[in-house]
Amino acid sequence: MIRIVTVIGARPQIIKAAALSRIIASDYSHSISEIIVHTGQHYDTNMSQVFFDELGIPVPDYNLAVGSGSHGRQTALMIEGIEKILLEVKPDYLVLYGDTNSTLAGAIAASKLRVPIVHIEAGLRSFNKSMPEEINRIMCDHASTLLFSPTATGFNNLVSEGFRKDNRAPFNSDNPGIFHCGDIMYDNSLFFAGLAEEKSDILKQHGLNQGKFILGTVHRDNNTDVPQRLNAIFSAFDRISRDHRLLIALPLHPRTSGLLEKNLTPAVFNSVKANTLIRMMPPVSFLDMIKLEKHAEMVVTDSGGVQKEAYYFNKPCIIARPETEWVEIVDAGAGMVTDADENAIVKAASQFLKNPPISFPPVFGDGKAAGFICRTMIDSAEGSKY
Ligand code: UD1
Ligand code: UDP
Repeated sequence: MIRIVTVIGARPQIIKAAALSRIIASDYSHSISEIIVHTGQHYDTNMSQVFFDELGIPVPDYNLAVGSGSHGRQTALMIEGIEKILLEVKPDYLVLYGDTNSTLAGAIAASKLRVPIVHIEAGLRSFNKSMPEEINRIMCDHASTLLFSPTATGFNNLVSEGFRKDNRAPFNSDNPGIFHCGDIMYDNSLFFAGLAEEKSDILKQHGLNQGKFILGTVHRDNNTDVPQRLNAIFSAFDRISRDHRLLIALPLHPRTSGLLEKNLTPAVFNSVKANTLIRMMPPVSFLDMIKLEKHAEMVVTDSGGVQKEAYYFNKPCIIARPETEWVEIVDAGAGMVTDADENAIVKAASQFLKNPPISFPPVFGDGKAAGFICRTMIDSAEGSKY
């Protein structure tokens, strides 16, 4: 039996962790015991608890209740809390997801205590170090013992940074194992798609007709906090909805809704507010989100997870960022990177609405990443003991 501590904190990590916890419960309960630590980075009911209720994730064994704050303070409080738990629990592995401050905090706490780190979503790079996430993911990768990459590009990025693909067990942070295993989020999308269809009435709630609306999300700090960029994105939403007479569903991250009035010019704010085609709503549950993604005509987003989910459900995606880590989506012709450029977003929308992509090659694996990760952790555990 191996003991793992899983650290989650932000919305997408809670969702990703559901896939691993589900497989541990169904297939590996005799060989893996999981202890869940919630850092409390996200804490609103619709940013955290809703996912536990809906996705069957076990109640966290610890909640550090760190909350919001500056990067330094938030990360420091998490490191302190995670360190204490690692000293108490003495796990075989610390499991971390993605690239948030919760990920970085876990990586620092565990590496100093020589607890082997398992990084799920390793190797992704934007090659843009002004993103807090780029720093978090590079630091986590380089402290990890087992690195699971969702895409071939991610795996190759690790190799370019000096990770050796021929390393063999026993693994440790000086002899890490790197694996290309597919995307754990795909496991979830496949698993929950049917349930979402059955349970979610989000389309009815907001008067949305199947295939006749656009789904948008915006939450990246360089979009929400830079008025010029936020104005460009919301002006684009305003124009696209009016030009194409299409509804736009916008489940808004609290960071974004909190900054709309402050960072949009009065003209853009008032125009968007008066536009009955734009349906702003609080963050939605995962099943509601899947239902929206499945039935949208197109997606416009700066989210990493939403880009991929759009692809899983064969939807074109406009990426309102200067670059993407998920280059396979662009290579397949299913995504366009427009940055926060109003005209580029409007033009990309017209192109995709007229000529939607037809091919979505299976570049994110087979939906069985979680099982692969569990087996690899078990097989490698002997050699990884610290
Ligand atoms: C974080 C991650 C980002 C990820 C996103 C997922 C970092 C550096 N960023 O960004 O990579 O894409 O989560 O959603 O870790 N807030 C609330 N209620 C909440 C949570 C946040 O109101 O439950 C508001 C607070 O005003 C807070 C702001 O949102 O200051 C930002 O939250 P934070 O967790 O710092 O960053 P995210 O933008 O959510
Ligand atoms: N999501 C959700 N409700 C929402 C918005 C997003 O359940 O209102 C889900 C989405 O389906 C995906 C994940 O949250 O699984 C993406 O998280 P987010 O966009 O916050 O962060 P990122 O992926 O960019 O780190």
